[in-house]
Amino acid sequence: MLTNLRDICSIAEQNNMAIAAVNSASLEAVRAAIDVAEETGYPIIIQHAEAHEGVVPLKYIGPAVVDLAERSSAHICINLDHCEDLSYAQRALSLGFSGVMFDGSCLPYEENVEYSSRAAEMCAEYGAGLECELGSMGSREGGESDEGGTAEQAGAIYTNPDQAKDFVNATGLDILACSFGTVHGIYKGEPHLNFDVLTDIRDRVPHLPLVMHGGSGVSDSGYKKAIDAGIRKINYYTYGAKYAGEAVEKVIAGRQTEGGKHIVYWHDMTVAAYESFLNTFEHVVKVFANGARPVA
Ligand code: 13P
Repeated sequence: MLTNLRDICSIAEQNNMAIAAVNSASLEAVRAAIDVAEETGYPIIIQHAEAHEGVVPLKYIGPAVVDLAERSSAHICINLDHCEDLSYAQRALSLGFSGVMFDGSCLPYEENVEYSSRAAEMCAEYGAGLECELGSMGSREGGESDEGGTAEQAGAIYTNPDQAKDFVNATGLDILACSFGTVHGIYKGEPHLNFDVLTDIRDRVPHLPLVMHGGSGVSDSGYKKAIDAGIRKINYYTYGAKYAGEAVEKVIAGRQTEGGKHIVYWHDMTVAAYESFLNTFEHVVKVFANGARPVA
């Protein structure tokens, strides 16, 4: 069933768990996300990032994912990820998205408040939930670049807990994306997460669901500590896409050659990618459940 971003995160808040928010830029990833939610009984968030418009345009993926979520027995939120253009958010909302992440983290604080507040009004009109970001992770969402490294290398600015309280009250957001040491893309070395940032924010805004971006590549013990400190949604993309790419690479390498050339069929690659996404998503959904029982 199509579930609002705010409601799916309050399920997580009630159960001291986090919901996996998987960026699904292909049918294989969408299919795997839905199958995992239905088979495990845990909710899932399927995301389309504005930066992936060139990979799969919103006008194709949007109606498909909303329809699939509506038909599913599992709680599924369809969320627009890292939206910087309110007219793009408007398009997603009119297609039926049940959540929007408006990302004004690169703007001066007052402008971030202004645009995030406008996003809140738009979401309220459609009954959708709103996520906003405060602080900066430095690296941008995209997936195909070599961004990543460490938070320091990416030029991250941790979320200021006092400002977070003001930001939440001024904007009317439902959930808050925080910068506390994660980065988008591939980590070059161990990520160093500052859990005190999360604890300080939750002290100032009790029970506010917090969001970890740059969630893929973090250790299972890192996820657990973050969840226990108030993370309720974990964005997961890069490493899942990388593992699926490696699975496809294996299929190609295993093909017999004819006249020195590998014969590769596209459908074999989509099946390998689907199976890889399925394994990856099943693992993270179970880890993010943090011991909670299935909630479906
Ligand atoms: P990763 O690049 O770590 O997968 O993060 C994805 C993300 O945060 C999407 O918003």
